Amino acid sequence: MDAIKCINTRRSIRKYKDEKIPAKIIKDFIIAGSNAPSSLNDQPWIFITITKKKTMENLTNLKVQLSKFVATAPLIIACCYDETKSRAKHHNLENVALAAENILLTAHASGLGACYVTAFDPGFPEIEESIIKELALPVNIKAVCLISIGYPDQKPGNKKMRKLSEIWKREKYDA
Ligand SMILES: Cc1cc2nc3c(=O)[nH]c(=O)nc-3n(C[C@H](O)[C@H](O)[C@H](O)COP(=O)(O)O)c2cc1C
Repeated sequence: MDAIKCINTRRSIRKYKDEKIPAKIIKDFIIAGSNAPSSLNDQPWIFITITKKKTMENLTNLKVQLSKFVATAPLIIACCYDETKSRAKHHNLENVALAAENILLTAHASGLGACYVTAFDPGFPEIEESIIKELALPVNIKAVCLISIGYPDQKPGNKKMRKLSEIWKREKYDA
């Protein structure tokens, strides 16, 4: 699949077949994440691969709605940053979000399906607390998202898109 087709056909997949992902493909995800652009090329990311069902269930066994489907995937990648590894700390979320998109696209290009799920929500501190506990994160490591990945067992429905005329301004914002 060429890169542009991959970008334009990627969709969130939330239902997975009960099939393991080969170690070589898991390594591809980490390499893809690590090739993302980062502020000052600091590459402050840490990727934690999770395949143990118990950890997945503990991560999602919350009263608040951290999406439960995440625990049904054969693989979760927690995308984090290490605060001690970046000079421009205000760019850490951007750094990790770009790495996460590389992983989502690599999953799609490999015939897998993935979904980005946030790892923090100021309204629901339990989400962050459970991730810190289950993944034994030290204080300098902050989780940005969990990406669930597996062989797709669903076809995503149509996605409502905003019109290009609404989001594309030429030369200036002309309202
Ligand atoms: C910052 C962010 C947070 C998200 N959090 C969740 C989430 O908690 N649960 C979930 O099922 N999907 C989550 N998603 C996935 C979006 O729902 C999804 O990308 C969006 O509906 C567009 O659909 P698509 O990915 O198929 O293009 C999140 C995506 C982003 C970028």
